[in-house]
Amino acid sequence: MSTPLLEVRNVVRDYTLPRPSLFSRPVALRVLHGVSLTLGAGQSLGIVGESGSGKSTLARTVMALDRPQEGEVRIDGENLYALSRTDLRAARRKFQAIFQDPYGSLDPRHSVRRIISEPMRSLEAGQPGTSRSDRIGEVLDAVGLSPAAADKYPHEFSGGQRQRIAIARALVTRPALIVADEPVSALDVSVQAQVLNLMMDLQERFNLAYLFISHDLGVVRVITDRVAVIHLGRIVEEGPTGEVFDGPRHPYTQALVEAVPKPFAGRRQRGRSAKGHASVAASGAAGAGCPYEPQCPLAQPLCSMEAPALRLLAPEHSAACHFA
Ligand SMILES: Nc1ncnc2c1ncn2[C@@H]1O[C@H](COP(=O)(O)OP(=O)(O)OP(=O)(O)O)[C@@H](O)[C@H]1O
Ligand SMILES: [Mg+2]
Repeated sequence: MSTPLLEVRNVVRDYTLPRPSLFSRPVALRVLHGVSLTLGAGQSLGIVGESGSGKSTLARTVMALDRPQEGEVRIDGENLYALSRTDLRAARRKFQAIFQDPYGSLDPRHSVRRIISEPMRSLEAGQPGTSRSDRIGEVLDAVGLSPAAADKYPHEFSGGQRQRIAIARALVTRPALIVADEPVSALDVSVQAQVLNLMMDLQERFNLAYLFISHDLGVVRVITDRVAVIHLGRIVEEGPTGEVFDGPRHPYTQALVEAVPKPFAGRRQRGRSAKGHASVAASGAAGAGCPYEPQCPLAQPLCSMEAPALRLLAPEHSAACHFA
């Protein structure tokens, strides 16, 4: 089998919280508990899960911005956290990011030209055969902006246009992977659709792979081939997007999917709702059992004794539940 474009293996990420008092020990908070996933060239993998589940931490880990305590992140087979500084800088050309906030992620003091050329500056040499300004024109054109946009500043654009600028900046190094962390969440619904369409066009045109993070299952359904559901820093279900959303096997995924059509329908009873205190911080000390057991409507005695491993339930579809 050929090497996948992205391979995340058993990533564990702990944060050290401030000491509650001068004399107490520092408290470690485990945010990712051995996360593994793979993504092939030209494919898109969604990561869904509620706020605090570790999605952005995973994105930063994949972007080589947040070193995990354990595990590996491989791009084209190279473990990013084992590379020298120079090799990592060279490898960065292959993966770029788009973030949620097109306001915050573009420096207001810089022209669009400068913003877009930023990833090229940090690489030693430009792409052979193409001058820097040609390349800027090309990526602006690819995202549907005119060449004149290069001389303007972020405040002169709408939210959707700013996200196009962020996408242009991501494209400039001809990456194979784009990590998109809630890229359309800050946009109006009609603008979301335009940006998603653009992302799908670009994916086909440049054979891009997307690691697409969102709490919005509708958006994930549109743009991804496969999806991984993350709960308290663990992947609890993974499979083809349609299959996972239409026939969720893990009770947590079922709760997430059920919550979609009526997000404002008010609190549901008996703690079955997927909404709420799912942040890692709120999860408390981990017992031996399934981390979803306290909220799970299907919980059995076994669930509080033994944590279920992710296991294959159908070709390419796995879930971490004793009773899936
Ligand atoms: N630098 C940090 N130091 C300490 N704790 C952190 C740090 N970054 C994140 N956390 C904690 O890690 C957990 C996961 O955070 P993360 O931002 O990855 O969640 P998320 O799934 O992206 O949430 P959201 O949907 O709100 O963006 C949270 O409990 C958060 O408070
Ligand atoms: Mg986040």
